Amino acid sequence: MRDPDLEPRARRGITRRGAFASAGAAVGVGLATGGCELGKAEGERPLGSGTVPFYAPHQAGIATPQQDHLVFAAFDLSAASANDLQELLRTWSHAAAALHAGRRVATSPDPGEADGLGAASLTLTFGLGPTLFERDGEDVLGLRDRRPAPLDQIPTLPGDELQDHRSGGDLCVQACANDPQVAFHAIHALTRAVHGVAVPRWSQAGFLPRHRPARGARNLMGFKDGTNNIRSADDTQLRRHVWVGGDDRPRWMQGGSYLVTRRIRMLLDVWDGLTTDQQQEVVGRRKDTGAPLRPAQAPAHAHVTLAAARNNDGVRILRRGYSYTDGVDPATGQMDAGLFFICFQRDPARQFTAIQERLGVNDALAKHLSHTSSAVFACPPGATPGGYVGERLFRRL
Ligand code: HEM
Repeated sequence: MRDPDLEPRARRGITRRGAFASAGAAVGVGLATGGCELGKAEGERPLGSGTVPFYAPHQAGIATPQQDHLVFAAFDLSAASANDLQELLRTWSHAAAALHAGRRVATSPDPGEADGLGAASLTLTFGLGPTLFERDGEDVLGLRDRRPAPLDQIPTLPGDELQDHRSGGDLCVQACANDPQVAFHAIHALTRAVHGVAVPRWSQAGFLPRHRPARGARNLMGFKDGTNNIRSADDTQLRRHVWVGGDDRPRWMQGGSYLVTRRIRMLLDVWDGLTTDQQQEVVGRRKDTGAPLRPAQAPAHAHVTLAAARNNDGVRILRRGYSYTDGVDPATGQMDAGLFFICFQRDPARQFTAIQERLGVNDALAKHLSHTSSAVFACPPGATPGGYVGERLFRRL
């Protein structure tokens, strides 16, 4: 099949209006000269192994296996029409298809820092924030009646110490890859591709240990995380808890999912002062193996006891977070490190928020954590070949 990223603009019949036309010079130049840039670049970038298809029923980066590195970015839209948003999503999707395949984006010039690195199993996952549908009570893009009911702002939760400059956003891109530079390059190239149309609001890098067993990687507290997570091959659980489907509305979200991010700092100085037994009582798991504690040892306020599906009306979430480290907090002299928590679900209010409301008040782990950022996004279903992520949102507009 012909890759739309390789096609000249005129043949794809792209029309650009409004802010996109005035501000999208980088996009226009890039696509116009993209053919020769790509011809050269394709020879330079080995496709190699480790590619994840971009065109699929569900967006990649949700149920696909987790890679070693994350660069997550939230953006604010500076353009002011639904057509601009539509064009941005088209541009990003076409670029993402090339990046997933280990090729350059057709912007001019591609930043180039991933040349020769291959695709490194890159996945790009796109999300739409609540402020796209309504900002300060205003229907800026004329999309208010399309807002999915589950895409509500996450309410203030117990223990929140949120920083506005790290929270929210009109749009997000989650880039995951087995090479940190490939993940960074993807965000860099996508940022350039929509220059003047959307501006980065905040971004977060994350990592996992390279060697990790299928059932849980150690987090920065030394405990195995993900042991009792939904498996990527478990279609029944994914359909029940993660994919928008069945009678869920709106229809344009069917096959998609809702993404919640929380930057959760670990207060490691106090934590490090606990004995292993005390730490195990807080988490409710053995530190060495990740196995549950014997019932008599597991306190009612342990993290896993309160988070477990059996104590939450059967509610589950798909967790896909990454550890982070961001230097030293000048106010305390302590490391600013922890978990960039990411989870996917069908309905954040009923799933993430309901669980976190209990955890924030009662969880023995809560006093060792500080939630410093929060965001929620609707991730539409995957793009069909030649189409783009979010396409169904604009039908009959
Ligand atoms: C830095 C913050 C956090 C740390 C260090 C942490 C750590 C852990 C660990 C070690 C486990 C046990 C292994 C596993 O089954 O994955 C676990 C389980 C779990 N956590 Fe967290 N967690 C954190 C935040 C959260 C948040 C914010 C939520 C949701 C609101 C959450 C929900 C869960 C759930 C649902 C389980 C599975 C419980 C079960 O069914 O056994 N966690 N977490």
